[in-house]
Amino acid sequence: MRVDKMIGNTGLDTRKNIKRNAKKGALVINGNIVKDSSTKVDPYVDEVYYMGHFVEYIENIHLMMNKPAGVLSATKDEEETVIDLLDDFYLDYDLSITGRLDKDTTGLLILSTDGKLIHKITSPNSNITKTYEAITRDPIDKSFIEEFKNGVYIKEDDYTARPADLEILEPNKALVKVTEGKFHLVKRLFSNLGNEVTSLKRIAIGDLKLDPYLGEGDYRELTEAELELFS
Ligand code: URA
Repeated sequence: MRVDKMIGNTGLDTRKNIKRNAKKGALVINGNIVKDSSTKVDPYVDEVYYMGHFVEYIENIHLMMNKPAGVLSATKDEEETVIDLLDDFYLDYDLSITGRLDKDTTGLLILSTDGKLIHKITSPNSNITKTYEAITRDPIDKSFIEEFKNGVYIKEDDYTARPADLEILEPNKALVKVTEGKFHLVKRLFSNLGNEVTSLKRIAIGDLKLDPYLGEGDYRELTEAELELFS
């Protein structure tokens, strides 16, 4: 990879500054001053110093975001996306989104540069449970618990959803646990039984819970312990 990208990824400096400072002799690769900041390095092998700092290679970045309503779970779009909420530092990374949420859905979103992690979380075969808090238009009928367990027929897609878990918390509020990532799934589970979701928030992916201290639109890096939950 280019050495300016490797340095930039650590947040030490911008690529523009790295280019300028390298010309002045601030970049040392394997003991030699290198004036061209586009020089390629192997981040696992080459020893890079910039402005006297040893540059430790950051391989992957993983973020937990509390997605607000009104922004798209997409990396590029004409409309505002979750990427637009990130600090410049993270824009240098090729972040992908796990398990997209509808524009009006809030809650836990994971953004990561690690394709393997993304695949693990989004692949239907991994059976990772996604937990949602749903508010509904009408009081939730107790019969829905059994219907969810048996698999609701989704007429829009002509298929029967996998068994889902429904816990009614209040007349119009429930926890829903699903293992699929189908389009509008939670909304469709309810609508195909004659009710309607008016508000939806994802609160967990597997054992990873949304950090209650993250306000809507806030994000932070995942801790090692949180990453371990997916290993
Ligand atoms: N199910 C939905 O209906 N919408 C989401 O955003 C996620 C799950």
